Amino acid sequence: MTQELIVQGGIPLHGSVRIKGSKNAGLPIIAAALLIDEPVVIEEVPDLLDVRTMLSVIESLGAVVDYDSNEERITINPKNLQSAEPPVDHMQKMRASFLVLGPLLARYGYARLSLPGGCAIGTRPVDLHLKGFEAMGVEFSYTSGLVEGKTGFLKGADVYLDYPSVGATENLIMAAVLAKGSTTIENAASEPEIVDLAGFLNSAGAKISGAGTKTIRINGVKQLGGTKYAVIPDRIEAGTFLLSAAVTGGEIIVNNVLAAHLKPLLAKMRETGVEIEETDLSAIRVRGSLDKKCVDLKTQPYPGFPTDLQPQFMSLLAASRGTGLVTETVFENRFRHIGGLLRMGADIQVEGSRAVVQGVKKLSGAPVEASDLRGAAALVLAALSAGGTSRITGLEHLWRGYSGFEDRLRSLGANLKVETNINLTWERAAGE
Ligand code: EPZ
Repeated sequence: MTQELIVQGGIPLHGSVRIKGSKNAGLPIIAAALLIDEPVVIEEVPDLLDVRTMLSVIESLGAVVDYDSNEERITINPKNLQSAEPPVDHMQKMRASFLVLGPLLARYGYARLSLPGGCAIGTRPVDLHLKGFEAMGVEFSYTSGLVEGKTGFLKGADVYLDYPSVGATENLIMAAVLAKGSTTIENAASEPEIVDLAGFLNSAGAKISGAGTKTIRINGVKQLGGTKYAVIPDRIEAGTFLLSAAVTGGEIIVNNVLAAHLKPLLAKMRETGVEIEETDLSAIRVRGSLDKKCVDLKTQPYPGFPTDLQPQFMSLLAASRGTGLVTETVFENRFRHIGGLLRMGADIQVEGSRAVVQGVKKLSGAPVEASDLRGAAALVLAALSAGGTSRITGLEHLWRGYSGFEDRLRSLGANLKVETNINLTWERAAGE
């Protein structure tokens, strides 16, 4: 049973769309609920596969979870946690599950969980997480893919991150909020999602300062109290919708978006000739132009251009005039969407972490397969801009990070539908 997204491309999108809460802020905040032994309410959390996975991980530890997916509101009561050993199968589904390590070490002084496997976009080690916890007094042992951490108590420490890792910064903040003494994280990640995690924890009584800068200070407290918190809008989803108007030469208004979180994308889109207007504090109007110019792009940690929008931006460059050089500095294998773009007639040469995009006049629809979340979004954008019909498989990747994506694109005038294809499975099996 294979599901395919069938896209009739070449239709300029028009209308308005409201951006949902941030997946990458919501996931660490759900994990952070484990630090609190009173009920918490988290709002603006979209119904995503990754959200469901993180909720199942904390439920496996004994947290009581109620998720009203229509209201996008989660109530978590972590009072009676019974375990510090999340099941391997839960952990293997999603790398972000590793974010429960900090809370468990803070709450129990113990945790045993599986090391996250690599994924489609890279090996993605967790050495920076573990090094930071060791500085806080944790001793780790490793057996067959599991890591066990023990400490009498977590003590505050000065940690320098060799790389501004988002996950390591989040994990260490969560451990430090209940540690004895104060912790400083130098060369910390400064993404808006870090600021949101700190906002959530401070609303529960934590003492965190400097989130959003390279140096974050945390004064440990004895305990945290219940709280209610709304997650920030998802800047990557917002960027994806903005690009959907640019690639189709349409005009849309994106609501519930913080333009301050998207400065590099807006600047790059303007460079290509796309018109961007920040209509008010939380809305952006974008007008695509059929004569778009290729630009160079280099992904960096925040506030640089986000790696999570590199595949989607490449779909814009693929059918723009001239040549664009795309350099991916964050992950070592984040060009897997290029195969699908080539099948649609793109002209892209990959040399290590760089891709040279020779813009073509127009892409043409083709059957393509997605292999990771943002690559899937890139293929949808390319299909929307291409002439003719595209058939996209690997939709489980798309649904990890985009809620109601097809319906919301359809509300902007896109012609697409999801088909369940039985014989495709048969053909594929026959082919194997
Ligand atoms: C977060 O992943 C996001 N995921 C990713 O979004 C995003 O691409 C990434 O940050 C970078 O912005 C969530 O927030 C759930 P990192 P994370 O630790 O925390 C290396 C999406 O599409 N590294 O900043 O895993 C690592 O290998 C996802 O929504 C180490 O070497 O990212 C990578 O090359 C994809 N050692 C680089 O740092 C470590 O201990 C960035 O990783 C940790 C990371």
